[in-house]
Amino acid sequence: MSHLPIPLDNPDVLVGLETGDDAAVYRLRPDLALVVTTDFFTPVVDDAYTFGAIAAANALSDVYAMGGTPLMAVNLVAFPIKELPASVLTEILRGGLDKVREAGIDVLGGHSIDDHEPKYGLAVTGTVHPDRVIRNRGGRPGDRLVLTKALGTGIITTAIKHQVAAPDSEAAAIQGMLRLNRDAAEAMASVEVHAATDVTGFGLLGHLHYLARASGLGARVDAAAVPMLPGAEALADAGEVPGGTRANERFLAARVRWPRWLTAARQTVLSDAQTSGGLLIAVEPNEADRLLDNLTRRGVAGHLIGELTPGSPGEITVA
Ligand code: CO
Ligand code: CO
Repeated sequence: MSHLPIPLDNPDVLVGLETGDDAAVYRLRPDLALVVTTDFFTPVVDDAYTFGAIAAANALSDVYAMGGTPLMAVNLVAFPIKELPASVLTEILRGGLDKVREAGIDVLGGHSIDDHEPKYGLAVTGTVHPDRVIRNRGGRPGDRLVLTKALGTGIITTAIKHQVAAPDSEAAAIQGMLRLNRDAAEAMASVEVHAATDVTGFGLLGHLHYLARASGLGARVDAAAVPMLPGAEALADAGEVPGGTRANERFLAARVRWPRWLTAARQTVLSDAQTSGGLLIAVEPNEADRLLDNLTRRGVAGHLIGELTPGSPGEITVA
């Protein structure tokens, strides 16, 4: 998209392409804006129903990351209808619908095409008050960084495909991907949050890089404080690393200062491309405890993983 002309100047476009944020936000009235996003991908797990539910949780996540409330969703489907039984597609869609209903909304339409490789996702529309949009820019020096899900879903889903993931790793990864970011978003709604994003394809450090850069700041991450799924580091060591994660590592090489003692496996997990990852929240320092309390009360494991720092925009120091 960077090769295309930027959108026309329109004051009602509150969030467009400029900062690579999670969703577009368009102001309809002084007290009401639309949040619009879409996401779809190829299967990340074997079970069709679970794949559908994960894809829906992932698509909804961008609305939550903007501080929005989902309003409705439509399906995006590619499916090899001559090669796989239609019942598989029904299961994918049923998983997506159940997850969308868990979010309190419905699937109101969609579009499907015949395609060799199944793909599923949704376009989700939500609403937000224009004054309460949480962007990926807006972070301030000293803001504490809070992460709400453990890392390693890219590594573990790769291991699942190769049938080398331990049952506890697989179960923890699937449980994490299925979890809506709604509770985490509710927890941040009543505290002074300056910026947020959800952790997906660019991995924790990739998304943190964009958040920090959009905020004109650097960041420091405490590698030991970052939650990781069971087995993720060992599987990374064993080479169960998706191409997207390797691409993230190359992208981050010039943007992250690694301590010499950090293992290669931990570096890989910190860069791992996530599916339906948690929220990464930049919160006013003296509000961090209240945010963590709010998360705990909703059954979300929030982790304090670092802070935003004055410094070269987008540069991350791992400590
Ligand atoms: Co996002
Ligand atoms: Co997205």
